[in-house]
Order: sequence, then structure tokens, then C-alpha cells
Amino acid sequence: MKIIMLGAPGAGKGTQAKMIAEKYSIPHVSTGDIFRANIKGQTHLGMEAKKYMDEGKLVPDELTVKILLDRVANEDCKDGYVLDGFPRTIPQAEVLTEALEKMGDKIDYAIDVAVPDENIVNRMSGRRACVNCGATYHIVHIPPKTENICDKCGSELILRDDDKPETVLNRLKIYHEQTQPLIDYYTEKGVLKTVDGTKDMKDVFADIVSILG
Ligand code: AP5
Ligand code: MG
Repeated sequence: MKIIMLGAPGAGKGTQAKMIAEKYSIPHVSTGDIFRANIKGQTHLGMEAKKYMDEGKLVPDELTVKILLDRVANEDCKDGYVLDGFPRTIPQAEVLTEALEKMGDKIDYAIDVAVPDENIVNRMSGRRACVNCGATYHIVHIPPKTENICDKCGSELILRDDDKPETVLNRLKIYHEQTQPLIDYYTEKGVLKTVDGTKDMKDVFADIVSILG
């Protein structure tokens, strides 16, 4: 099962992708998480990506496509995966389609988690992420048991560098310009499914499970 999560920044792609990965025992592949791990490790890729991410811009396709194709070529991805944050541009989607076609394969579902812009800034300013394991919370909607402490590993929770309101507005603008066209792209391929991302996290997941079966 090969699944793509689409949706605006903060729509809940990561939240739902983690739950899908767990239920269906497939890897959760997030380009954002890969970049953040590289920033933390101070790698060359991380330093390059950070310049764009801090301004809410997309990391150039040349950098992004390669790391994604390398990741999905791993043994653990052979029976499927859930992609979160990739593709984000039409050229990225085309590269992915071609790479899969070469193996006689295709994407099975592109799930658009739909959330209006009005809800997004609030979601982002309340998001907290674990510095160690990357688990995410929301201070109001999905709070950790102890304030600022990760339920899963006990490490500190922080606000992501790119979740400042100015940066979020820029990410939203870029989403509408460059990523939203993917909705038409995957509709034409007959694999687009839309879920209402404003519902409670568990209800959004139930809707996704009813699509995936
Ligand atoms: P990335 O990490 O992918 O960020 P994003 O798309 O902006 O999305 P987010 O991770 O911010 O949101 P999400 O949809 O995962 O929401 P979440 O589940 O956390 O990318 C970061 C940057 O990396 C990009 O800006 C770009 O620079 C670069 N990049 C990455 N991939 C790239 C690519 N392919 N090409 C080029 N550049 C790339 O939820 C948000 C909050 O809401 C959380 O607090 C959560 O707890 C809460 N929440 C979730 N669901 C609900 C619900 N149903 N109700 C209430 N609250 C909820
Ligand atoms: Mg995410």
C-alpha cells in the first residue's frame, strides 16, 4: 500500500501518517522529518535545507527528490509506505510517478487532509514537538500528560523554528501556489480522497481507515 498525505502545513498530515504507519505496519516517510534530523545532526544537507525552511520556503527539488528516492528504495519500503510532505510540487510528483512506473508500480491513495487557512495559524502556534523522538502534541487539542514533557520518551517539547506566525503565513502562501495543484494531479490519476481535517484527530483517522479498508 503506497499512500501520499496531502494538505496545508499544520493540516495534520504527520499526526495521521504516524497512525496509518502503525495500523498498517508500513514506514512513515516524512521529508520534513528527514531535513530536521539532518539539521539536528548538522550535516551538509541539513545546513542547506535550513536556509529555506527557516523562511518557510520549499527546499529545492534537486535536493529533495534524491533523498526521497533513496529512502523509498530501502528494503523496509518494499511493501508500501506513507509519504508525508512529499511530493510538494508538480515536478516532484512527476519524478515519483516515473520512478514507480519503472517498477510497474503506482500510488494507491493520495489523501488530502482538508483544513481551512483560518484554523492553521492556531494549530501551528500550539504545536509542540519532542526534541528526541519527534512525537507531536498540541497544547490545547492534544496535550501531553505533563506540560512540555513527551509522553513517549520523557524528553523536552519545543516549538518548531518555522512555526512562528510570519513563517506560517509564508508556508501557507507557498502551499497554495506550489502544492495545491497536486490535488488536480492526483484527481486525474483517480487516487485522490479527501477527508475533513477539522474533525477530532480520532474521527479524521476513522475516515481514513474507512477509505483504506
Ligand atoms: P513539513 O515538516 O512537511 O511541514 P508542513 O507541510 O509545513 O507540515 P507540518 O509538519 O507543519 O504539519 P502537519 O500537516 O504534519 O501537521 P501536524 O500533524 O504536525 O516541512 C517543513 C519544511 O521542510 C517545509 O516548509 C519545507 O521547507 C521543507 N520540505 C519538506 N518537504 C519538502 C518537499 N517535499 N519539498 C521541498 N521542501 C520540503 O499537526 C499540526 C498541529 O495540529 C499539531 O500540534 C497537532 O497536534 C495538531 N492537530 C493535528 N490534527 C489535529 C486535529 N484533528 N484537531 C486538532 N489539532 C490537531
Ligand atoms: Mg508534519
